[in-house]
Amino acid sequence: MNDTIPLAGVIGWPIHHSRSPSLHGFWLQRYGLSGHYIPMPISPEDLESALVSLPKLGFKGINVTLPHKEHVLSLAAEATDTAKAIGAANTLTFLPQGGFEADNTDAYGFIENLKSGAPTWSGAAQTHLVLGAGGAARAVLVALLQERANTILLTNRTRDRAENLAEAFGPRIQVVDWEDASDAVAHADLIVNTTSLGMSGHPPLPLSLDLAREGTLVTDIVYTPLATPLLKDAQHRGLPIVDGVGMLLHQAVPGFARWFGEQPKVDEDLRKAVLG
Ligand code: ATR
Repeated sequence: MNDTIPLAGVIGWPIHHSRSPSLHGFWLQRYGLSGHYIPMPISPEDLESALVSLPKLGFKGINVTLPHKEHVLSLAAEATDTAKAIGAANTLTFLPQGGFEADNTDAYGFIENLKSGAPTWSGAAQTHLVLGAGGAARAVLVALLQERANTILLTNRTRDRAENLAEAFGPRIQVVDWEDASDAVAHADLIVNTTSLGMSGHPPLPLSLDLAREGTLVTDIVYTPLATPLLKDAQHRGLPIVDGVGMLLHQAVPGFARWFGEQPKVDEDLRKAVLG
């Protein structure tokens, strides 16, 4: 059975909120594949034994979500440069010789989402304003540096966390005080919210777009709601926007292709299925 029906899934603690099963399930059905994708609640103390058992049960690979994303990287036999740079992994592929390769596809997902939502966008030689300094910000910074950003203005409520990222990622990152973020808008070709502000149940992001230049692209990694207050404001002002759910959809592509052998497409039907 292991040879004929590939298995994959997502581990986290808790896991019930994950949209990955509906995403991969949609693709399995669309392409008529006989694999299965299973959500698995795995506690931190069970993580290591699960990573040993899953390939024996026929799993080709797994996605990883909170709280395991950093820990799995330290357990990997191999890790991609992107996963090492981000310091966390979300896509594991079990190796024939044992162990697993750890990758992080969040940076890829972020960039693919921008490129499909704003086809003329190129990050090269541009100035970007990134709000937030958590795990999501790390993936966005790695993505923008890989796209040859000129300067990334990084701002965070807790300035120390932004300083730590600037130290880790080098001089193209310039830290801006949280209170000065609205002034930094004037220099930005791209504005990215990676904080939880604007998510349902959270206050909106306290950022004024008054100084935004014509054509500044605004994106938010929050996708509940899809139209965050930031994106609504930007749209109102005639600025181009890209919403956040596409990052979730695109980050799933490399894992699906590796485990199930088919390069899946991200399109409107998938968006609808996942947003349900
Ligand atoms: P993730 O891994 O999803 O990025 P995180 O590490 O908890 O999650 O980071 C959340 C981000 O949202 C941080 O940048 C956080 O700012 P702090 O580092 O100052 O905590 C930001 N954030 C959350 N609530 C916020 C609030 N009320 N005001 C400003 N920033 C907030």
